[in-house]
Amino acid sequence: MEKHLTANELRQKFIDFFVSKEHTQISGASLIPENDPTVLFTTAGMHPLVPYILGADHPAGKRLVNYQKCIRTGDIEAVGDPHHLTFFEMLGNWSLGDYFKEEAIAYSHEFLTEVLGLDIDELSVTVFAGDDEVPRDDVAFEMWKSLGVPEDRIYFLGREDNWWGPAGETGPCGPDTEMFIDTGRPSCGDDCRPGCSCGKYFEIWNDVFMGYKKNSDGSYEEMSRKCVDTGMGIERTTAILQGKQSVYETEVFAPIIAEIERLSSKRYGDDEAHDTSIRILADHVRTSVFILGDQRGVAPSNVGQGYILRRLIRRAVRHGHKLGIEGAFLSALAPIVFDLYSAPYPELLHNQHFVLKELAGEEAKFSDTLAKGEREFEKMLPNLMKGKDRIISGRTAFKLYDTYGYPLELTIELAAEHGFTVDEAGFKAAFEKHQEISRSGASQQFKGGLADHSERTTALHTATHLLHQALRMVLGDHVGQKGSNITVDRLRFDFTHPSAMTSEEIKRVEEIVNEQITRDLPISFETMTLKEAQEAGAIALFEGRYDEQVKVYSAGDFSKEVCGGPHVAHTGLLGHFKITKEQSSSAGVRRIRAILE
Ligand code: SER
Repeated sequence: MEKHLTANELRQKFIDFFVSKEHTQISGASLIPENDPTVLFTTAGMHPLVPYILGADHPAGKRLVNYQKCIRTGDIEAVGDPHHLTFFEMLGNWSLGDYFKEEAIAYSHEFLTEVLGLDIDELSVTVFAGDDEVPRDDVAFEMWKSLGVPEDRIYFLGREDNWWGPAGETGPCGPDTEMFIDTGRPSCGDDCRPGCSCGKYFEIWNDVFMGYKKNSDGSYEEMSRKCVDTGMGIERTTAILQGKQSVYETEVFAPIIAEIERLSSKRYGDDEAHDTSIRILADHVRTSVFILGDQRGVAPSNVGQGYILRRLIRRAVRHGHKLGIEGAFLSALAPIVFDLYSAPYPELLHNQHFVLKELAGEEAKFSDTLAKGEREFEKMLPNLMKGKDRIISGRTAFKLYDTYGYPLELTIELAAEHGFTVDEAGFKAAFEKHQEISRSGASQQFKGGLADHSERTTALHTATHLLHQALRMVLGDHVGQKGSNITVDRLRFDFTHPSAMTSEEIKRVEEIVNEQITRDLPISFETMTLKEAQEAGAIALFEGRYDEQVKVYSAGDFSKEVCGGPHVAHTGLLGHFKITKEQSSSAGVRRIRAILE
């Protein structure tokens, strides 16, 4: 099976198909989720839509379609093989309380066979086998059968295969049906089935029947309004359609890899170790450009998204050096990513200056780190030479890694040059101990559950709108939102402003917000196009298409802001507003933390 469909063509065909089925195309969201403390990046097309799957009305209607940039960084170290990617694009169509299983499957079938031209014999599907809590999905089974998929290629599988979500600890979830291309290769044994890792079957699409909501006590509640959420990964699907063995062989990676080959004078396909480095470099540079070039792009740092970005850039630099590339190279690769993606993601071009500056800065800094690590190593050498064996302890190797950012592999290389080996097991033990500590920190982040729209976070969200408007009144209209993050305890708001706020300014902002709370303003929303919202003077990022329908929330006559909600009914419910901290976030950006008492 070879259908020469490029990623751009697949993206467009998918959108056109669902628009022809009365779906409205909505913009994809930022890679940096807003008001969701539970995950660092947008991981699926459904992620920004969680409040609507849980019941809120979406301003664009009940049938939606889009393409969404996604990042999954669960296991960065796994990237390097021919299949893993940290960044990918997901195509999705949604029914928000409109059609359900049968129509969703019929659409998937029509798209696969009529638009992509797949033969029904090339498809295998899986459906939910049922368990104590949720019954077997006979509806999905019968539907696939009626569309011509023979029974022996419809597999009933359990929760680990055919249940999706929730994305965090709580939220919408349900049984799914997954579609696989059968490559026609012989099966690897009697147990071989879709989902098997032997490479006979490739998953291309997942239709999730969002019928349940998982609560924080672990219970599942059936939702009265059922939704469909589907996801198709663009890179994987095009690779499979093109008959390629790997996503790295498709046109979205070819020009990046060609430039790496030119810079390094190595050829992709010649040497397995080099191939791994080439893939790592190609993947990480693409993801880094998307994080930096996002509409809410962040710079490398030691926390949150900035830390992931830093790790990606450093890993890319290291593998660039391994390939023998000399001098700075990331800013030579980034423009290729702009060329490939600026049509579907115009924000990349708007932010290209920032992207190039930050990439070059981090690359230079890390090259310094490498030099510093080498100096430290040289300093240690005389002492090491005094020891009776030629082994560098795990603790020493870990110290170089942890304090100077000097990677183990380089310590091993350097050690070998001086006739030493490294106690890798000791390094691993020190590393794991360290990871346990940071993991227990990270797991805190998932406590809130995805889309924890409890009363407290809703109240803080409304307070954020009041704060935003008050800041504009006190500091000026140049104040624009750069980020917002809400937990059940506090709000955090990043905004553009060149200097620290004075204590009078902070006090004045608090007073204004508390006045609006005392006035007990009603909160309401209207649906309009983004253009109308701008004309009405609403605050917004103005990042999507201007003809797109959006919700505009008003707090009485005080504030008007484009936002998905939810909000409290009237400001009197908020309590007393207090700013607990005002500090710098990055150049030209201030950060406020505030609470409701
Ligand atoms: N949410 C599902 C996924 O990520 C389908 O969109 O695969």
